[in-house]
Amino acid sequence: MQDKVIVIVGATGGIGSALTRKLAPTGAQLVLAARDSSRLDSLASGLDSVLTIPTDITDQQQVQALMSKAVAQFGKIDVLVNAAGAGILKQYNQLEPKDLDAMIDVNLKGSFYTCQAAAEAMKEHKSGHICNVVGILGKHSMAMAAAYCASKFGVVGFSKCMADELKRFGIKFTLFYFGGVDSPFWDKVTLKVDRKKMLSAETAADAIMFALAADPQAVPMEINIQPESHLFF
Ligand SMILES: NC(=O)c1ccc[n+]([C@@H]2O[C@H](COP(=O)([O-])OP(=O)(O)OC[C@H]3O[C@@H](n4cnc5c(N)ncnc54)[C@H](OP(=O)(O)O)[C@@H]3O)[C@@H](O)[C@H]2O)c1
Repeated sequence: MQDKVIVIVGATGGIGSALTRKLAPTGAQLVLAARDSSRLDSLASGLDSVLTIPTDITDQQQVQALMSKAVAQFGKIDVLVNAAGAGILKQYNQLEPKDLDAMIDVNLKGSFYTCQAAAEAMKEHKSGHICNVVGILGKHSMAMAAAYCASKFGVVGFSKCMADELKRFGIKFTLFYFGGVDSPFWDKVTLKVDRKKMLSAETAADAIMFALAADPQAVPMEINIQPESHLFF
């Protein structure tokens, strides 16, 4: 990981912050992004070689500025970890247009903008690794998750298309299908869930570390980890 430039979007979240703490001692150069600048600053305090860039990924111009600033500071982008997102879990007939807009804007369009902008920077160096933290609801359905699943199935769709287009530039994709992860993600969700039975954010971050440490010739295309209480086959 030494000297790798790693952009983590959603760095202040449960998964993003666990990953940041694991990457910080490895000698990687970290670019941390999310909207709340004070949470970014407290995550970065005491860490070396860290740049924080407050960014709203629903705004394509802010996403382009994020990647440009990362390249201006560190000269390249080796890795993008997309760990930003949100969940609105409601019965289909209670979903309002604003709920659909929120899911599509952040989970689908925001992830697309970050992949698109990072890929343009990675193409210059003919190498790169894009890690999309999709979630199991990007490939399996669940009651109460119509809007969320729509956004996450979309992430899988565009990621696979981009992976195909970008392989000739040495850019690889890993898609992570985690089941429930105990994180602040669930604070605003009204659905009753048992957070004690979920995966920890550390487990999710370990899986991302595994993918990042893989042999450069090997592409861990998909990593699927579920809590024992909630298996999808
Ligand atoms: N928790 C789970 O059970 C689970 C399972 C599988 C997959 N996932 C997915 O994994 C990702 C991370 O989840 P998590 O559990 O770590 O969630 P989390 O703790 O709620 O963190 C979400 C992160 O996304 C950032 N974010 C939200 N909206 C943003 C925007 N418009 N622009 C930039 N950043 C934004 C948040 O920071 P700001 O609010 O400051 O912007 C925060 O850093 C999400 O995509 C989620 O769907 C979660």
